Amino acid sequence: MSFTDYIFTEYNKRTAALAQSDNPYARGVAWVDGEFAPLHDARIPILDQGFLHSDLTYDVPAVWDGRFFRLDDHLDRFEASIAKLRMRNPLSRKDMRAKLIEMVAMSGIRDAYVQMILTRGLQFIRQSAPEDCKNCCYLMVMPYVWVMGEELQRTGGHAIVTRNVRRIPAGAIDPTIKNLQWGDFTRGLLEARDRGAMYPMLTDGDGNITEGSGFNVVFVKDQHLFTARKGVLEGVTRKTVLEISDRLGFAWTLDDVPVELAYTCDECFFVTTAGGVMPVTRIDGNPVGNGEAGTVTKALWKGYWDTHYDPELSFAIEYRRPR
Ligand SMILES: Cc1ncc(COP(=O)(O)O)c(C=O)c1O
Repeated sequence: MSFTDYIFTEYNKRTAALAQSDNPYARGVAWVDGEFAPLHDARIPILDQGFLHSDLTYDVPAVWDGRFFRLDDHLDRFEASIAKLRMRNPLSRKDMRAKLIEMVAMSGIRDAYVQMILTRGLQFIRQSAPEDCKNCCYLMVMPYVWVMGEELQRTGGHAIVTRNVRRIPAGAIDPTIKNLQWGDFTRGLLEARDRGAMYPMLTDGDGNITEGSGFNVVFVKDQHLFTARKGVLEGVTRKTVLEISDRLGFAWTLDDVPVELAYTCDECFFVTTAGGVMPVTRIDGNPVGNGEAGTVTKALWKGYWDTHYDPELSFAIEYRRPR
């Protein structure tokens, strides 16, 4: 059995076990206003500025096979985003960390998508100074989410370079603050549908590729990786992949990435916490390389999943209930 088959078979077994569980949190748990609730029963107040103005930041770490992966990197980025928005988390970092671990443990979910959101809160922003609002923190744990499903990862996704929409400029919305202002990505997703693909890569309007709807973009040419330095979220998955590249001896460049690379590269893949390393085998209808996931992509794919067991980067959750 290949590593890909193994990892997905194991995942499918664990997901099936969740459906059998009598634990009310087995399909997910939320923490809202100091209370835990089964995920699908949780509600946010309609007056929250996060809902009314998308005035929020968020972050998403994952748990894989019962181990939290790079939680502190995600907490670091979350704190940096909060500071840039001049918000204050009512929970200390220590409490956040403990609460997230507790939620995963009580859910019993061994492959989890974990989301923390800090919103501006319930005061009307037009009547209060934004930095004076009491901010609200929401936490969620749910079964792992795939931006590119396991089956599709075997053959690779089809992507486009968008023509009708560009990434919102950093001077309008700072993409290093992880945000849910998805107007440009949603238009990109619609354009991808219209052009027979699933995934949009957005340009910066000046002939460079930035990122896509929830993922960073990496091109490979002559075993060398290229990925955008600015105008993008500084992804934790990308950071992991670049560290693995160093170990495997693949050089990489973090700089502007000209659109031409989308048509001349040997390989392309997307990276995100919700899906890992996701091969792209068609761009604008044309095969990338020989039209299959390339050797560098596959090596990084394996390195990425292997690294989830590295004690420097992950730690085991102590689950409370028997599985
Ligand atoms: C716009 C955008 N870029 C990149 C990423 C990848 O970031 P990470 O690897 O930290 O999950 C995400 C993740 O959600 C994202 O929303």
